[in-house]
Amino acid sequence: MSDDETAGVLALARRIALAAGAIQRERFETGVSVATKSSAIDLVTEVDHACEKAIVESIQGERPDDAILAEEGHGEDTDGREWRWVIDPLDGTTNYAHGYPRFCVSIGVERNRVREVGVVYDPLLDELYHAVRGGGAWLGERSLSVSTCSELGSALVATGFAYDVHRNSRESAACFASMLEAARGIRRDGSAALDLCYVAAGRFDAYWELKLHPWDVCAGNLIVEEAGGRVTAADGGPAPANGSSVLASNGRIHDQVLERLQSAGGDAGASS
Ligand code: IPD
Ligand code: CA
Ligand code: CA
Repeated sequence: MSDDETAGVLALARRIALAAGAIQRERFETGVSVATKSSAIDLVTEVDHACEKAIVESIQGERPDDAILAEEGHGEDTDGREWRWVIDPLDGTTNYAHGYPRFCVSIGVERNRVREVGVVYDPLLDELYHAVRGGGAWLGERSLSVSTCSELGSALVATGFAYDVHRNSRESAACFASMLEAARGIRRDGSAALDLCYVAAGRFDAYWELKLHPWDVCAGNLIVEEAGGRVTAADGGPAPANGSSVLASNGRIHDQVLERLQSAGGDAGASS
């Protein structure tokens, strides 16, 4: 349950998520500059950097002793700190760069390496998700619960693909094909953090992805768990904090999805 310090961390996380979201909203579809990172399809825009700078400066100003792991490299991930902020300043950069209106800010905070606070903000829908360990998951003032769907055949599921997919498509394609044959529908909407929040909100019944990063899942995994869902690696093992794979679901269809992923070979190295 929340103590005073956790409540302060949550308040700060919400404030900075709203501020970064405002930057995203204001600059959406204004022709922002785009560069590439690990591959030709791994993009970063000036808005990713502007959001991260604003977020990191606020944390450093108010909580200078905390460690910070942020996707674009601002902040210091110093060992041995009680609190660590894990930040995706703009989750859904490809969407953002193309003017596709689905992206968010994702801020997870660990206390002694255990996820304590998660905040995700979708600035276009003005949807602010949050969770505190033991305190439930929330969308604004609304308490969130995962769906009650118990058959994969009636489920709406989501996935995503890593930025090395041009070189390594086999595993992802096999999982996708296997789920295509089993689920009611599949979405690939380009923001892992929002996909997780949609599982928490009962909009998706399950979401899986391979080769994510800590900042993609830190906030969202806590939000799913606090909404009563289940989060594991794609092989059913404990959910890796580094995001190397994730399967998040309402719990009821978890084993059905796992079986599909495993038979498609999507569990290879999943917990590593
Ligand atoms: C990406 C998005 C996407 C997922 C990728 C992520 P980014 O994050 O969450 O949905 O499929 O694996 O890397 O690069 O937009 O922050
Ligand atoms: Ca991301
Ligand atoms: Ca990002």
